[in-house]
This record gives sequence, structure tokens and C-alpha cells, in this order.
Amino acid sequence: MTTTPSAFPTGFLWGASSAPHQNEGDNTNSDMWALEQLEGSPFREPSAKGVDAYNRWQEDIDLVVSLGFTAFRFGIEWARVEPEQGVIDPDALAHYRRIIDYCLSQGVDPVITLHHFSSPLWFAQAGGWGAPEATDRFGAYVSAVTPILEGVTWVATINEPNIFAVMHQMSIPLQYPDPTAVFAQLAEAHGVSDSDAGLNAFSMPAPTEEAARIMLAAHERARAILHEKTSVKVGWTVAIQGLVAREGYEDRLDHYRRIWEDIYLEASRDDDWVGVQSYTSQLVGPNGLEGAPAGSEVTQVGWAYRPDALEMALRRTWEVTGGTPMLVTENGIATTDDTRRIDYTTGALEGLARAVADGLDIRGYLHWTFIDNFEWVHGYDITFGLVAVDRTTFERSPKPSAYWLGEVARSNGATIAH
Ligand code: BGC
Repeated sequence: MTTTPSAFPTGFLWGASSAPHQNEGDNTNSDMWALEQLEGSPFREPSAKGVDAYNRWQEDIDLVVSLGFTAFRFGIEWARVEPEQGVIDPDALAHYRRIIDYCLSQGVDPVITLHHFSSPLWFAQAGGWGAPEATDRFGAYVSAVTPILEGVTWVATINEPNIFAVMHQMSIPLQYPDPTAVFAQLAEAHGVSDSDAGLNAFSMPAPTEEAARIMLAAHERARAILHEKTSVKVGWTVAIQGLVAREGYEDRLDHYRRIWEDIYLEASRDDDWVGVQSYTSQLVGPNGLEGAPAGSEVTQVGWAYRPDALEMALRRTWEVTGGTPMLVTENGIATTDDTRRIDYTTGALEGLARAVADGLDIRGYLHWTFIDNFEWVHGYDITFGLVAVDRTTFERSPKPSAYWLGEVARSNGATIAH
């Protein structure tokens, strides 16, 4: 085992990330649930019971603690808190408060996402993010959540607004009487198909300026409400693509950085923190964004195997935000080979350690993901998790990578090796 002197400050957070729709199961009042049931939808299978995290959350936090982690990212599901417009479910709020209380009692810092891709079905059907009232509607939900946030430090308003700016178009079919037909037209118009690569950052249409404007407005509204009513630190979590120009295409790089990342990172200048989410790096060339170079190792979702992308993402984020404190809120690899997961994460953490040593203000590392879960359009065959799950009994089985990362956490990063 190689030992590097720990670059990490005391109190650096180590943990794993999750999201409500991907883990809880039975998110029946959400737009994603509805989309999964549609004929012609790109979802390979429905989310169904998820990994039953809505019921097994205590067991999951116990596992987080036993592995040696000090932070756990999970989300509050708007579709549960407000299943019908204007109707706040006190049981849902009490449920999430119990999770927060339990985390705090176990010495686990909860990192909470208020919106992770899924919205209530009523919101989607009432025009979704395209409706003029979208920001007010989101703000009302955020206000309803504020009473349960006491004692919480880290709150992300919206997960990956730059990816979501695209994804939110997916709920448009739900606004029409014949959603399946509209879905097909939309997919064709955008070139989004149920291909092997599925829907991901490489196959998606670029986020529009209008979508970006909406995301920024929703984030600013949520931030104002949270600052007024709570003492949490507010940020959002941004997908950073590790973009690099082929020689001669630097101007294109500027363009893609602007529309995919910089608009969102500039908004983070006024935030208390920013979540950095990194998986791979992409070239920008004559045809725009490129997929994995021919012959390179790719992950289950077709992304190039690039452990170095995290360091690139952290340095880029630091530069564009001008020094907003960062948390790595997602970093990981879709693979069935857990030795590649350890290798990938070792490389990513070495880059993280260098960034910390260079003085970048990074407060923690949360791996994506804790338990193999519902990987959106791809369904359950794609495994990003540190922990495997039996899809019938929901029994959790930590993989070697979970124990390995737990040891890294216990040593505060002093032992980053295989
Ligand atoms: C999302 C997660 C997703 C992960 C892997 C991120 O874009 O926040 O929900 O599962 O990447 O694709």
C-alpha cells in the first residue's frame, strides 16, 4: 500500500452520494415514474422499487458509518413532499427529518439535494420548467422544506442544472394528451434515441439559453429562501465535462465551456459552495463534442476511462468561480469490474490530493454512488455502486471498493492505493 502524506485538512468529508428517484422506489407521483411507463419512452425498464431506500434508509446510514464515512448525500423528493400542487405531505417531511436526525446522531454530515432530475407529475403536466410559474412553484416547495433543515450544513438546490437543462425537455410529452407520440417526435428532433450509449452527456442536445435562464432563476429563488429561513450553506451541483480542445479548435472549446459549464459556475460565485461532479473528459474538435477516442477504455455507459478528469474539473471550477468552496458531490465509474473502480478512484483521489495541496478549497469527496441503483434510461444493469444489492431481497453487499474507500476515509486520505 502506497502512503502519501495526507493533504487533507482535518474534518474533510468522506462519503458517498445517492438520489431519491434512483434509490427510494415507488416514486409514483413523479414525472420520471410516468415517463418510465410510456410506450416509446427511452427508459429500458421502470424504477419500480428502486433499492427500497425509502424503507431501508436507516440500514444504509448504518452501513455508511460502519464503512468509515463521515458524509452521505441524499435528496428530498419534491413529488413526495408536494404530491399535488399546494398540498404538502407532513409525513414525507417527517420522514426526511428522521433521516437528517439519524445522520446527525451518527456523526454523518447530510448533504441534501432538493431537486435531482425528478419533479412532481402535476408540475410536469402544468408546463414543467417551461411554465412561467415554474420558479414560484419550485420556491413554494423549497419554502415548505425549510422547517426540516435545522442542523444541516450542505444543501444543493438543483442537481446538474446543465444536464437537467436538457433533461427537463423529457417531461414535455407529459403535457399532451398523446404523450407517446410527442415523445417520439421530440427524441427524433434532438437525435436522442435508445441507443447503446443511451441518454448521456454525449448524446444529448446542448442546453438552450432559455433552459439555462430558468435554471438560474430557480436556483437564485431557492438560495434566497434558504438564506432567509435557514442557516444552511447553499450551492448547486454541476456536471463538469473536462473539456479539452483539439489543436485549432480552441474557440469551439470556449463556446462549449460557456454553454455547458461556465454559465452555471458563474452563478456559483454568489453561492456558499459548489458541488463538482466529474466522470470523464471529452475532446472538442471539428464536429463539436466528441465521444471516447477510438480504442480507449470505456465504461459501461461508453464514457472514456479518465480518472484524471476530477482534478481537471476541480481546477476549472476553481478558476471560473473565482474561489467558491467546493465539495466533490459525484465521481465514479460504471463498471462490473470492481478492481477498475478502485483503480479509477485511486487516480481521481491522487488528483484531488494535488488540488488540495495546491490550496484549492475543497471540503469533501462523495463517491457516486453508494448502492447500485436505477441509472435513469439505462435501468439497473449499469452499476456505479460501492455496494451491490440483491434485486429481490434488497440485501446490501459492500464491494471491495467500499471497504477500500472506507479505509481511505478513516486515514483521511493518507492511504490512497490499491
Ligand atoms: C447524475 C446521477 C447519475 C450519474 C451517473 C449524474 O449525471 O447526477 O443521477 O446517476 O451522473 O450517470
